[in-house]
Amino acid sequence: METASDDAQQGWVAPFESDPRTHLAVALDVPTLQAATELIRRLSGAVGWFKVGAELFTVVGPEAIHVAKQHARVFLDTKYHDIPTTVARSVSAATRLGVDLMTVHAGGGRNMLRAAVEAAGEAAAAAGRPAPLIAAVTVLTSLGDTDLKEVGVAGSAADHVARLVDLALAAGVPAVVTSPREVALVRQRSAGKLRIVTPGVRGGAIGAAAPGDDQKRSATAADAIRAGSDLIVCGRPITQAADPASAAQELVREIGQAQSGIDA
Ligand code: C5P
Repeated sequence: METASDDAQQGWVAPFESDPRTHLAVALDVPTLQAATELIRRLSGAVGWFKVGAELFTVVGPEAIHVAKQHARVFLDTKYHDIPTTVARSVSAATRLGVDLMTVHAGGGRNMLRAAVEAAGEAAAAAGRPAPLIAAVTVLTSLGDTDLKEVGVAGSAADHVARLVDLALAAGVPAVVTSPREVALVRQRSAGKLRIVTPGVRGGAIGAAAPGDDQKRSATAADAIRAGSDLIVCGRPITQAADPASAAQELVREIGQAQSGIDA
C-alpha cells in the first residue's frame, strides 16, 4: 500500500484539500503554447488546477501538460467518446503523461466507461503512480432542454443527468462533470460517492455572462460549492480578464467563503 511518504517522493498531491485553490481549475482555452505558458505564469500559485482542453492539446500536445504540471494539478479535458478499446488506449496514454484528472463522455456507455477506469488503474500501476480521476461528462453545460430534444433526449436536462449519473456509478467511475444547476441532484443521487466537477459558473465574484457566451445552465461558484461540487472549472471570466490573477483570487475567495459556510 502507498504511504504518504511514497506519495510525496513521487511528487503526488491529493486532488482536493481544504485549501480553496485546490477546488478551482482554470481552463487554458488558448491556441498556442506561448499563450498557455503566459497564463500559467500569471496564475501560478493562485489556483490548484490547470485544465488542458481539446484546442490546446490538439495544437501543442503533451508539452502543454508538462508545462502546466510544473505549477499545478493537471486536468486533461479531451472528453473521449469512442469504442472501449480506443478510449482505453487513449486513457492509458494520458495516464502515462501524468494527468491528475481526465474526462470521457458518459454517453459512451457502460463498457466504455468501465474500460476507461480500468485502463487508468492499470497504466498508473505500471507507471508506479496513483491513477488519475476519470470524470464522466453528463450533459454539457451549453445544452438546454431544446438542444437535448434535437438530439433525441425527450426528458429534461436534469432527468438525463440523473440517468447518466446512475450509469457512471454502475460502471465504477469516480467522478462526473455536471452543470452548477445539477450538483445537488448528483450529490443526492450518488450518496456522496462521486466527485463532482462543475464548469459553467457565472455571476458572483466573476460577474455575469459575457456577450456571446455559450453557457446556458450556469450558476455561481458559491452555489455549486454549497451544493457539493468538488472542483469549479472557469475559463473565459478569468483568462479574458484584464488581470487574470486577481480574477482567480476573487473566485478562490468566493469558493473559500462558500466552504466555510458548509463547514459552519
Ligand atoms: O470559458 P468557460 O468558463 O465557459 O469555460 C468552461 C470550460 O469548461 C471550457 O473549457 C469547456 O470546454 C469546459 N466544459 C464545459 N461544460 C462541460 C464540460 C466542460 O463548459 N460539460
